[in-house]
Amino acid sequence: MIDTPRLHVFGCGRAGRAIARRLVDAGRVEPGLIVNRSLESAQRAADFIGGGEPAEALDDRVAGGWLMVGLPDGVLLDAPGTIARACPQPPQLVFHLSGSVEARVLERIGAPFAAVHPVRAFADPQSAAARFEGTWCVAEGEPGALERLRPAFETAGGRWLAFSARDKAAWHAATVAASNFLVTIHGLARDLAERAGLPGDQARELLCDLQQGTLEGLREASPRAALTGPIERGDAAACRRLAAAASGLDAERARLFSELGRATLALAREKRGARTGDRSLAALFSATSG
Ligand SMILES: NC(=O)c1ccc[n+]([C@@H]2O[C@H](COP(=O)([O-])OP(=O)(O)OC[C@H]3O[C@@H](n4cnc5c(N)ncnc54)[C@H](OP(=O)(O)O)[C@@H]3O)[C@@H](O)[C@H]2O)c1
Repeated sequence: MIDTPRLHVFGCGRAGRAIARRLVDAGRVEPGLIVNRSLESAQRAADFIGGGEPAEALDDRVAGGWLMVGLPDGVLLDAPGTIARACPQPPQLVFHLSGSVEARVLERIGAPFAAVHPVRAFADPQSAAARFEGTWCVAEGEPGALERLRPAFETAGGRWLAFSARDKAAWHAATVAASNFLVTIHGLARDLAERAGLPGDQARELLCDLQQGTLEGLREASPRAALTGPIERGDAAACRRLAAAASGLDAERARLFSELGRATLALAREKRGARTGDRSLAALFSATSG
């Protein structure tokens, strides 16, 4: 028989709500205490999860259940002391959701501990929970916690990846570059498309399709091999037009475009070797850098 512990949540925001909802829907846990900064917010989280008890603080009801800490990373670092004081009897296990903080910050709580980083942007818990299937869950911590969490996350639709916490900062930087920077670049592309007169809805669809195709290519090839376009071809006339278009952007976006242009030129040189025209291409992208 599968044990269904109560899942208590300390910090039930975007990530916490989506994960709690998936674990509850999968039948792996029962909803337990929910503690946010305000009771109103905890109630909204309980409504979203489909159960749970909004509470002003953790208390000894946490004993014997699982405790998920979904606090923002800055607050998470100070949370273990608060949890240890509020819960003299430790939970059965405790885990947090951060990609940048090591699991062992939870050690002083006195329960088997883990960090399970769901590698997905949880901007909206509703759609994040709906699209959770197949989400990588990168986990590190104590075996006693990991061996109980793994089947629960897998039943909830996650793809488990055990990870040694050798360099979590580098790991987190990788996910920020892949996800957050992609959003920044997409925003830049949308601004340019709208300046060109493409209506917003069409720009969104078209540019998302384009980025999705590029990402699909990157599943099969290295960044060098996947790179195409005027910079990779060394097409000076097309690059002059690119630089001119970017110079019409505000200073910050123009600088971003130029820096990305130079970084792309460096990747192109790695791919096809240096060419005589590369210096003038690099100069074009320096000229628009504000
Ligand atoms: N969002 C993502 O895309 C994502 C993806 C993967 C992992 N994560 C990780 O998930 C964790 C949470 O991130 P998030 O984006 O879900 O944050 P969030 O949406 O800001 O939610 C944080 C929650 O913590 C509560 N909280 C903050 N300070 C508190 C305190 N002192 N006492 C009690 N509750 C407090 C907030 O309560 P109120 O609602 O009352 O303000 C809020 O519900 C982080 O470790 C993050 O790295 C996030």
